[in-house]
Amino acid sequence: MSAFAAIQPVPEDAIFALNTRFKADTFPHRMNLGVGAYKGSDGKPYVFDVVKQAERDVLADLEANRTNHEYLPIRGFDDFTASAAELLYGSDSPAIKEDRVARVQGISGTGSIRLAAELLSKCGGKPEVWVSNPTWGNQAAICVATGMVVHKYDYYSASLLGVDFPAMLASLDQAKPGSIVILHLCCHNPTGADLSEAQWNALGDYMTQKQLIPLFDCAYQGFATGRPDEDAYPIRSFVARGMEVISAQSFSKNMGLYNERAGVTAFVTKTASAAKAVKSQLEIIVRQSFSNPPAHGARIVANVLMKQGQAWRDELFAVTGRIIKMRKLLQEEILKIGVPGSWDHITSQRGMFCFSGLSKEQSVRMVEEFHIYMLPNGRINCAALQESQIAYLASSIYKVMTQPHKL
Ligand code: LMR
Repeated sequence: MSAFAAIQPVPEDAIFALNTRFKADTFPHRMNLGVGAYKGSDGKPYVFDVVKQAERDVLADLEANRTNHEYLPIRGFDDFTASAAELLYGSDSPAIKEDRVARVQGISGTGSIRLAAELLSKCGGKPEVWVSNPTWGNQAAICVATGMVVHKYDYYSASLLGVDFPAMLASLDQAKPGSIVILHLCCHNPTGADLSEAQWNALGDYMTQKQLIPLFDCAYQGFATGRPDEDAYPIRSFVARGMEVISAQSFSKNMGLYNERAGVTAFVTKTASAAKAVKSQLEIIVRQSFSNPPAHGARIVANVLMKQGQAWRDELFAVTGRIIKMRKLLQEEILKIGVPGSWDHITSQRGMFCFSGLSKEQSVRMVEEFHIYMLPNGRINCAALQESQIAYLASSIYKVMTQPHKL
């Protein structure tokens, strides 16, 4: 009898399973619009010019400095976490100036949420967590894995094709004081539907009064407007109201550093001494999880933010512009061929994802019949879409919406 006989298999992760299936597909018009990764106009993975420059600088530094592969401190690479915090909270942030931002390096967005969840579970009284309905599946899974109880708040309305803000507040009315509310800084995944500035202000007031703690999942800063400072409005405005906030930051998308896993967990506290305590606990969790973080991605991000900030902003603006263009072209084509609906939601949504409104059955047909790999919830990654693919994508949407199932 095997010592491991009790271990049961679980299904593969839904998003990455699509990648595996796509790679095995030989259909000529196949499209990989599942996992959130940006492709250039040539259909290839895009490497930012500023990242290439940073790689050259890091290599030069490696040649000049033999200690380059030695351990980072447990808290990570300070230049990286400091410049990342400035990017998110603003270089003039009072919280940064007053030493109220406890920050450690995490393993991209996922690992940074995990560190926060571990800390909240271990010494934050294991608060309940609220996630949007729908959301990126890993958020709730990470919190459950650390032993927290997860609830869903209403967010997206299929009939409004956007956020139902009154319903969101009505469900958060059930949250106990001290609960954590996971919010998407911008480019809500999977819906692409964000709150307006006025709604963020109202939410800030509401959460202050209800004593709810925001945990911002910051995976797409810059991908909404092309301007990272503008996209940071929600978190900066919450901090400006004096709120305590938590952030999990990723550079996978906005620097295209997917497999480098560069991320930061930060807690903005009321006092510098509270930040010190939080940081000490985060460091223990890092030590017991992966001891100390990897350096390469962190060095690249620090180089980009500290030495090439404007060039990165310009490049990011162009990258975001390509996504916005694909949304527009897709909408035009869909309308041209007479698919029912206005499809305005495709162009009003922000970020990588188009929440198409296709049902689960229709989305599955897109994969099975048309070889268009998208998520069963209707999410299409329009950041990977090519101009040459738009006609086939639109005609497939038309067919699943108007023609009976062939399978
Ligand atoms: C996605 O939602 O496709 C990305 O955030 C990739 C991931 O880790 O799921």
